[in-house]
Amino acid sequence: KKIIIINGPNLNLLGKREPTIYGSNSFEDFFKELKSKNSNIQLAYFQSNIEGEIIDKLHEVGFDYDGIILNAAAYTHTSVGIGDAVKGIDTPVVEVHISNIHAREEFRHASYIAPNAKGVIFGFGLQGYELALQSFL
Ligand code: DQA
Repeated sequence: KKIIIINGPNLNLLGKREPTIYGSNSFEDFFKELKSKNSNIQLAYFQSNIEGEIIDKLHEVGFDYDGIILNAAAYTHTSVGIGDAVKGIDTPVVEVHISNIHAREEFRHASYIAPNAKGVIFGFGLQGYELALQSFL
């Protein structure tokens, strides 16, 4: 199976950024561990702070991969373009958020991705990515 994790803006700062909300582990360390625990599948990782690059990546993998785990971060709440890309591709998308977005500011409650996602996982920290991965296996 071919699965990709796509992370959006500011998630390159995981571990350093607001650790009380997002934890103190870097995504790279977490990903290394996740990959070694799931060596039977082809697990890829892509991060970008640029909306168009996330859309390009969705187009690139969206007709070929078996699953996409997408944390579009702040673009979740703003990007019609990423929402449309998720709608336009064949590969199922599971939306993930590290924090409980519904326990936070009102503007984080809305998602342009959720209506076209297979499912949404939020509030379980980095474990959410692992749960999303399990949903594809
Ligand atoms: C986030 C939640 C978003 O509201 C926020 O903009 C992020 C991260 C999360 O994983 O909890 O950058 O997607």
